[in-house]
Amino acid sequence: MKKVSIIGAGHVGATAGLYLLEKRIADVVLVDIVEGMPQGKATDLSHAAPLRKYLNKIAGTNDYKDIAGSDVVVITAGLPRKPGMSRSDLLGINAKIVGGVAEQVKTYAPDAVVIVVTNPLDVMCHVVKEATGFPKNRVMGMAGVLDSTRFRLFIARELGVHLSDVVALVLGGHGDDMVPLPRYTSVSGIPITELLSPETIERLVARTRKGGGEIVGLLKEGSAFYAPASSITEMAEAIVLNIRRLLPASAYLEGEYGLNDVYVGVPAILGENGVEKVLELDLTDAERKALHASAGSVAANVAQWKEMKGKE
Ligand code: APR
Repeated sequence: MKKVSIIGAGHVGATAGLYLLEKRIADVVLVDIVEGMPQGKATDLSHAAPLRKYLNKIAGTNDYKDIAGSDVVVITAGLPRKPGMSRSDLLGINAKIVGGVAEQVKTYAPDAVVIVVTNPLDVMCHVVKEATGFPKNRVMGMAGVLDSTRFRLFIARELGVHLSDVVALVLGGHGDDMVPLPRYTSVSGIPITELLSPETIERLVARTRKGGGEIVGLLKEGSAFYAPASSITEMAEAIVLNIRRLLPASAYLEGEYGLNDVYVGVPAILGENGVEKVLELDLTDAERKALHASAGSVAANVAQWKEMKGKE
């Protein structure tokens, strides 16, 4: 049986654990720094097994030794942004947490494919890649699936069609400057540019960009977790089952799209080796400009992290 370890058994991590168990594709280990909490959640999940009918093993632990043999490690450890907290505060705190987690992953799960979820996630991918020394195909970030699923929902509602018929593509960093691509977004093969006016598309794009913020505003404390956990599950499933899904993922670019040494959301084929291939689309000038601007924001944050690190 395949094994997925989730570091950070909070809202996102524990929910992803539940969804993975319900898919019956892997044993699940929940790891957290809080004593007893991952054990408590794992025990509760095991009590649900007779009703939810999953037979996979589920364990909770504070000991990284238990992630040994993981095929996939998902990193959700870290703080969500709180009111009054600057982006650089979050960057500094989460980079330290994620850097520490990555060291443990390197030691105990040296062959795993890592999916980074902690925000700001494109920057955290750089932190993990550097701390683990893993090849680029084995460190990726989860954002594009989440951003695309939100875009799909808004399009389906607008057109009054079934969700399954809508396929959407959102590239770029996981931030306000993400790059939804209406040209590559379709309903049963019909591009949405033929079904919706430019104004309507712009409204849905704006709602997609603010999708995460909308939830933070409603929850007051914490951020979205059901849709992020669903997106993690989609990616982890593609990897553990080696089914080569073509999904948007934050991947390390070395020349693709004219970008270098930066993690940013691009279409990727996911399989047992992680990012099996990055697909390069023929973007219009405006789309390319938007992708470069988004990558520029990620690169600026990476530079800020490196500067903070240098001062320590
Ligand atoms: N090692 C392991 N776990 C840690 C560590 C650490 N060093 N530091 C913090 N954690 C754990 C916390 O104890 C907590 O249980 O990470 C968990 C985070 O869970 P939540 O606070 O519920 O946050 P969540 O909503 O799950 O979001 C986690 O994912 O989507 C992103 O922006 C979000 O960065 C945030 C992350």
